[in-house]
Amino acid sequence: MAAFTVPRQTFHGPGSLENLKELKGKKAVIVTGGGSMKRFGFLEKSMALLADAGIATAVLEGVEADPSVETVMRGVEFFNRENPDLIIGLGGCSAIDAAKAMWVFYEYPNATFEEITQPFTIQPLRNKARFVAIPSTSGTGTEATCVAVITDTKKGIKYPLVSYELCPDIAIVDGELAVSMPANVTADTGMDALSHDVEAFVAALASPYTDALALDSVRSIFDNLPKAYDDGSQIGVRQAMHDASCLAGMAFSNAILGIVHSIAHQVGGMFNIPHGRANAILMPNVVRFNRRATDKYRQLAQALGKETAEDFAQELERLRQRVGIEDSFQAYGLAADAWQDKLDAMVQNALADPCTGTNPRQPSAGEMKEIFQCCFVGKIVDC
Ligand SMILES: NC(=O)c1ccc[n+]([C@@H]2O[C@H](COP(=O)([O-])OP(=O)(O)OC[C@H]3O[C@@H](n4cnc5c(N)ncnc54)[C@H](O)[C@@H]3O)[C@@H](O)[C@H]2O)c1
Ligand SMILES: [Fe+2]
Repeated sequence: MAAFTVPRQTFHGPGSLENLKELKGKKAVIVTGGGSMKRFGFLEKSMALLADAGIATAVLEGVEADPSVETVMRGVEFFNRENPDLIIGLGGCSAIDAAKAMWVFYEYPNATFEEITQPFTIQPLRNKARFVAIPSTSGTGTEATCVAVITDTKKGIKYPLVSYELCPDIAIVDGELAVSMPANVTADTGMDALSHDVEAFVAALASPYTDALALDSVRSIFDNLPKAYDDGSQIGVRQAMHDASCLAGMAFSNAILGIVHSIAHQVGGMFNIPHGRANAILMPNVVRFNRRATDKYRQLAQALGKETAEDFAQELERLRQRVGIEDSFQAYGLAADAWQDKLDAMVQNALADPCTGTNPRQPSAGEMKEIFQCCFVGKIVDC
């Protein structure tokens, strides 16, 4: 027996931001990031649409990439002052995820961060506010996921908070918000979405529901990501990537992920590398490691007109190169001595990461270390 959880309503298509004016509520807090939503007019437009709906707004700006526990706690104080009945995450996933975590502490002031990092322990939300997610990157699919990733900067670890409670009530998937993404962010976030599909498709909890979404989304990303990378001004291509990212979010939120994410959470927590870029570096070698435990990669290869798991790994490498992503952490610029210093801790934390449990093959500590090391230097994994 299994369940499949997605937002109650998903509005999609260019211009779907307009649906904000149909919302019901008294006071919204909009949580947003470093300024792109303001710069490109979407913050102001959202406030105007909410005003049309008779909803007052307060704005919490400046959520950083890979938001910290401290940022979340500062946001909760703001929520407590403003007392919203609607929380709107607007922007990249970092802003939306910070808003999700703020929501938990707004509803449960006595909860601790340590408590809520335990999977599926968050108590029922929606006693004080409902949640609307409006992404501006086509990557994490957080608008449709039961996940929020928050970084403990003191420990250098990214914690995925996982609970069906965190699935937004409403997702607005409007490709117009993604048009302004620079090419490197388009590439990184697009490869993140692809990694969600690929990991969900072979995960222990994959189902016919999640497979259908992941397979369609893989096809779409291979087709549309190079186009979005070359010329991000085409709204049709942007909307296709935005939809693919949301479908990938629905797939992985229900099937969960694998060790691409377990490793990326550690590398991203210790070093400054965009999440999707880390995933893109890891993915081909994780396919090679996992293929001994699943033959489902053949279906992904066939979707691209190829045959084997190795063909699929090579297609991933081709796409990665096509969108300007390095083939190793070393080539990206991470320092070898710092890497070696942190390696054992990263290996242990990756083994303990919640995403490892649903990977189709359980790595030993030695195998996990081998994957880390091969991806550092750009060598093919053979274990
Ligand atoms: N919640 C989930 O389900 C989930 C899943 C996977 C990863 N994550 C986490 O999400 C975070 C990454 O989120 P992200 O990839 O969306 O990136 P992000 O939110 O960190 O944004 C990346 C950069 O792009 C800018 N940006 C965003 N939208 C833009 C636009 N339309 N135009 C111009 N600039 C824009 C941001 O200001 C930022 O500088 C990581 O912390 C990762 O671990 C969450
Ligand atoms: Fe991800």
